[in-house]
Amino acid sequence: MAHVSLQDLSKEFDDTVAVADLSLEVANGEFVVLVGPSGSGKTTALRLVAGLERPTRGSIFIGGRDVTDVPPRDRDIAMVFQNYALYPHMTAYENIAFGLQVRGFRKPEIEGRVKEAAEILGIGELLHRRPGQLSGGQRQRTAVGRAIVRQPQAFLFDEPLSNLDATLRVEMRAELSQLHRRLGATIIYVTHDQVEAMTMGQRIAIMNEGRLQQCAGPLEVYRRPANLFVAGFIGSPAINLFEGELHGSAGAWLFKGKSFQLSVPCPGAAPSGLATLGARPEDLRISDAGTFSAVVRVVEPMGSEMYIHLATEYGTRVVVRAPADARVAVDERVAVAIPPEKVHLFRSDSGERIGP
Ligand SMILES: Nc1ncnc2c1ncn2[C@@H]1O[C@H](COP(=O)(O)OP(=O)(O)OP(=O)(O)O)[C@@H](O)[C@H]1O
Ligand SMILES: [Mg+2]
Repeated sequence: MAHVSLQDLSKEFDDTVAVADLSLEVANGEFVVLVGPSGSGKTTALRLVAGLERPTRGSIFIGGRDVTDVPPRDRDIAMVFQNYALYPHMTAYENIAFGLQVRGFRKPEIEGRVKEAAEILGIGELLHRRPGQLSGGQRQRTAVGRAIVRQPQAFLFDEPLSNLDATLRVEMRAELSQLHRRLGATIIYVTHDQVEAMTMGQRIAIMNEGRLQQCAGPLEVYRRPANLFVAGFIGSPAINLFEGELHGSAGAWLFKGKSFQLSVPCPGAAPSGLATLGARPEDLRISDAGTFSAVVRVVEPMGSEMYIHLATEYGTRVVVRAPADARVAVDERVAVAIPPEKVHLFRSDSGERIGP
């Protein structure tokens, strides 16, 4: 397994900048998730690492070796695609063995590696079947098996779970995390699903419009989003955002929104100006001592908790995550409290985070 280093990597297609100045270090044995909306450049970034695309600028190192100009087959990495790309006329065994055969491995070695991978993945009994005779999850395991037997320097996964139903996806998520620990593998994993990113990644790299927005551990990204994009992308239901102005004063900043003012504790001088205040749904409280008032529009009971959708008098939509037994009625006017120590502040123009 090896360290993967992307240095100022850019890829332009005609008039599209798919990846812009991407720098990312993936440590030996690390599981990094690339996450972002559709078209943000995730697949292109992965294809650059695999060597399936040539960068317009920048370089790629795998295990300390500059592979920028090395063809895919000599990079010693394995990629698992969204559609698995299994050969339909071959059995699972043949599919898994294929990459070793074309590389000239001898039969006993191939047999040993396929058996071992099949055992790790729990598909030992299915090796004689063709992909058409396997379930989605079994096909997915076969595709992973094909990557494992290569014993590559690093694994690249591009949305490998997106064809599976919700239950199986949760199961495979846990299995892939276990597999990562067992193999000690270096993994770059692409998904647009923020839950997958949060649960699987040791670090999450969030991309938007080809640019890396933030790369940090899941909790860090959630607790200290670097900008408005990350704040809005990570977290479900999404963070609530309020437009307003920030006024600096000694010891506290005053945020003046349309429907409320809130003084926020701060360690330093505040940059005054247009600002956006973010508050996570679980940090808001329906409470008599509220910060602002709003009307309940929709109540969504989730079993263990409840999502309460509200609208302020200025039409700002707000979601509160409340206990399952919260008593609110549609059309009721309620007060909502924002704990000042829990809010996030961003510059409205650049979207950059303000303060700690
Ligand atoms: N071969 C290509 N030619 C021209 N434009 C391309 C090509 N491949 C990708 N693009 C463009 O580059 C941008 C990034 O595409 P990419 O496939 O990397 O996004 P993605 O983040 O993987 O999206 P998704 O979540 O939909 O898979 C998009 O605007 C896409 O249209
Ligand atoms: Mg993609």
